[in-house]
Amino acid sequence: MNRNTLPLFNLAWYKKLFWDGRVNSIEEQIFEPVKAHNELNVSWIEVEKRINKSAFYKSKFKQVFEVNKIDSNIISKALAQFLRTLISNHSKFDKVLQGKDYLNKEEQEGFVLMNEQTKGYCLHCHSTDANALATSLEFSNNGLDEIKNTKGFKDKGLGAITKKDVDVGKFKIPSLRNIALTAPYMHDGRFNTLEEVLDFYATGLKHSPTIDSKMEFVHQQGNRLSKEEQKAIIAFLKTMTDSVFISKKEFSNPFIKNKKI
Ligand code: HEC
Repeated sequence: MNRNTLPLFNLAWYKKLFWDGRVNSIEEQIFEPVKAHNELNVSWIEVEKRINKSAFYKSKFKQVFEVNKIDSNIISKALAQFLRTLISNHSKFDKVLQGKDYLNKEEQEGFVLMNEQTKGYCLHCHSTDANALATSLEFSNNGLDEIKNTKGFKDKGLGAITKKDVDVGKFKIPSLRNIALTAPYMHDGRFNTLEEVLDFYATGLKHSPTIDSKMEFVHQQGNRLSKEEQKAIIAFLKTMTDSVFISKKEFSNPFIKNKKI
């Protein structure tokens, strides 16, 4: 099963990780991509062997964890601590929330449309006002496919983990921070642009048994926002791009010398 890669930021606030929420901590999450056949495809025993051969890592781990032998638990702890430092909070929108910048007319219109119940109606899932994470952290089926019964979902998402019919076809509600940088979109990467995503919410919603009751515009295929309104939402979404975060030296590859960022 192939899924779209989720970006790494603000993970310290997530109670469940992966599109289907199958693990409860960053430490646990780290164990999976290493052994996944379509990712690093290597056993943890092999990883431990390789890391223990490195004088560089031996001395670093000794310094921090006071150990002579590095095992997978310690590796996952070190990586998890690093991942927790990936905090994105320097976008234009963050400055606006702090009263240090302001949205232009189009961005402001987009913000209002997203948070207006009779218009975009995005707020209950991708909260952008009181909750700066830009997600409610819940799992939901936002109506991507026309499906008659729960057996029809190609990817069962949360339902495959909880084994409950009501969870079939539900996926993590992704944060909309840095969304302009993380195409393609949705758990299966089916949309290549934000224009396609907005078009889907406007006219492409489909019925299925577990569709979120908050997708109430499904009876008219979507929120029917005009192209201008969709453009305004995209303009607002772009204010959540955090260029300070993505160009931080601390988060770049430490083994590449003389890099220009
Ligand atoms: C009922 C909850 C809900 C509402 C309302 C909702 N979304 Fe979503 N949104 C989701 C879920 C769940 C996904 C991931 C779905 C999947 O991949 O199966 C998603 C995915 C997205 C993505 C792709 C994110 C990524 O990283 O791939 C964007 C962009 C997006 N939504 C924007 C919006 C906008 C804009 C609105 C309002 C017009 C909106 N959403 C309304 C639940 C919702």
